[in-house]
Amino acid sequence: MVKIAVMVSGGGTNLQALIDAERRGELKNGELSAVISSNADAYALKRANRAFIPSYVLCRRDYASTDAYGAALAEMLGQLGIGLVVLAGFMTVLPPDFCRRFEGRIINIHPSLIPSFCGPGFYGLRVHEAALTKGVKVTGATVHFVSEVVDGGAIILQKAVEILPGDTPERLQKRVMQEAEWKLLPRAVSLFCEGKLQISGGTVRILD
Ligand code: GRF
Repeated sequence: MVKIAVMVSGGGTNLQALIDAERRGELKNGELSAVISSNADAYALKRANRAFIPSYVLCRRDYASTDAYGAALAEMLGQLGIGLVVLAGFMTVLPPDFCRRFEGRIINIHPSLIPSFCGPGFYGLRVHEAALTKGVKVTGATVHFVSEVVDGGAIILQKAVEILPGDTPERLQKRVMQEAEWKLLPRAVSLFCEGKLQISGGTVRILD
């Protein structure tokens, strides 16, 4: 069994999708073992408690530097025996040292079709605002491995979502979550835990 830590900062609907998938037996060879929040008030912590998943709060501002924060996080993950780190709405950028140490073992969900509308500054509603401003007809979500480059790691899964007339950033955000994020993330986590993701030359091959 791969022990999974889910890192959160806010509402935690993606965490909930993972909890629901685990209950349905859809996280094959994976176990949600810890929820780590960068924010003590995150609603995601309530979801973790309701699902009896041990939760921890690790705030960036309690550490002198990003590196010190990364070191504390790495220490915690090591002690818990975590094999996969899932960033699910985690709002703190992790330091390069941390990303290198956990290379190939951290995945992130981003609410656009990378390489569109991603990188520094593209988070939350801003991603959907940018998609609507550009007038793209299709957007979506991406699950990818995390590298030192923000939203730049190897892509695991993507799903397209159509832009509809009358979409606002809020409506689009909700539809991207419902139609793409909540389906993609559990699938990607399960594939990882089953050992079906192979990274080579910066791209991911999904093994049957
Ligand atoms: C999601 O849109 C995710 O793609 C992005 O942050 C948001 C988190 O939402 N990285 P939630 O906390 O899972 O509801």
